[in-house]
Amino acid sequence: MPDKSASPRSPFPALILIAVIVAALVAAFAYTAGWLTPQRLTPAKIVGSLAPPGGAVPGFRRNHAKGICFSGDFESNGSGAALSKARMFMPGTFPVTGRFNLATPDPKASDAMARVRGLSLRILTPDGSEWRSAMIDAPFFPVATPQAFYDLQRALANKNDPEAMQKFAAAHPEIAAFGAWAGSAPWTASYADERYNSLNSFVFTNADGQDQTVRWSFVPAAKPETLTPDELKQKGANFLDAEITQRVQSAPQRWAMVVTVANPGDATADPSKAWPEDRHTVEVGTLVVKTIEPEPDGPCRDLNFDPTVLPSGMRVSDDPFPAARSAAYSVSFNRRTAEDKDYPRTPSQGARQ
Ligand code: HEM
Repeated sequence: MPDKSASPRSPFPALILIAVIVAALVAAFAYTAGWLTPQRLTPAKIVGSLAPPGGAVPGFRRNHAKGICFSGDFESNGSGAALSKARMFMPGTFPVTGRFNLATPDPKASDAMARVRGLSLRILTPDGSEWRSAMIDAPFFPVATPQAFYDLQRALANKNDPEAMQKFAAAHPEIAAFGAWAGSAPWTASYADERYNSLNSFVFTNADGQDQTVRWSFVPAAKPETLTPDELKQKGANFLDAEITQRVQSAPQRWAMVVTVANPGDATADPSKAWPEDRHTVEVGTLVVKTIEPEPDGPCRDLNFDPTVLPSGMRVSDDPFPAARSAAYSVSFNRRTAEDKDYPRTPSQGARQ
């Protein structure tokens, strides 16, 4: 028989517990959303800072928005195995999906105006591992930290302060070297004429467990054709896609992958600092670009070339950029794929899969 004389239990402790749990959840959401730390640099803020004055272009990458897909192979010569146990450095040929692109948030930007060109790669191996990389043709990055990259976008967009860029440059003197490169490097006639550089540093581990901090470059086999400013102007807004399509139809295009090993003391955490020319290098294989495919229907369209997608034998270093890039690329990827209807496939291809 139940003891009817006992008084009912007070509901207050349970209510207080529920209130504490709800408060903790709200605080966790608020922290994640950055409401408690408005100064914190979030991936959404950094991606927002890349938007052009008219706003981000729906459906497209929030940076490097103009590009074209390719397919090909990575032919590994086996020399990379001394540096990394990654499967793609064992001798063999591995499939590649990639993208040539321009460093601009505007998919309609003129090729003659975009100073920085990019190369993105995904290499797959039969054991299911993969490596993704997104490189640019500048020899070093304009700034030393992700926070400085954000501050640079803000200074560039700040129309209220005519001295915003001067103030930025005074606080970030490393940008002067990039400005000098941008003002003096030759403009070439083709994506195939460019050398593309990782700029970020990564750690390679070989089968003996030895670690080396490295950067890499893809060095073109083509002899670069440089353009005068007049020739560049005459080429028009979209010459790069047409040129690479025609060139690859005539013959596959090749780049040697060269890995550069850091010496102790080299600036591994700072992509604005190039390493001295005399560093040990190893040529580990060749990228062969065999087919060009327009982006709307191409295999690179829905790929996120996140530089932290690395196989066993490669990992991130003390360089803070890959993690910041990974988070920003994810925000951009989620936004652009949610805006699918704004970047339709060509009508003949039907609905996007
Ligand atoms: C904090 C610094 C950086 C930020 C915030 C940033 C941001 C972005 C974003 C949002 C995208 C579009 C991603 C997508 O939608 O898939 C992108 C693409 C790209 N970025 Fe960065 N980036 C940074 C640093 C770099 C660096 C250091 C390099 C080169 C060394 C680089 C090279 C590229 C390339 C080549 C692409 C095109 C990738 C593709 O083809 O999908 N970025 N970046």
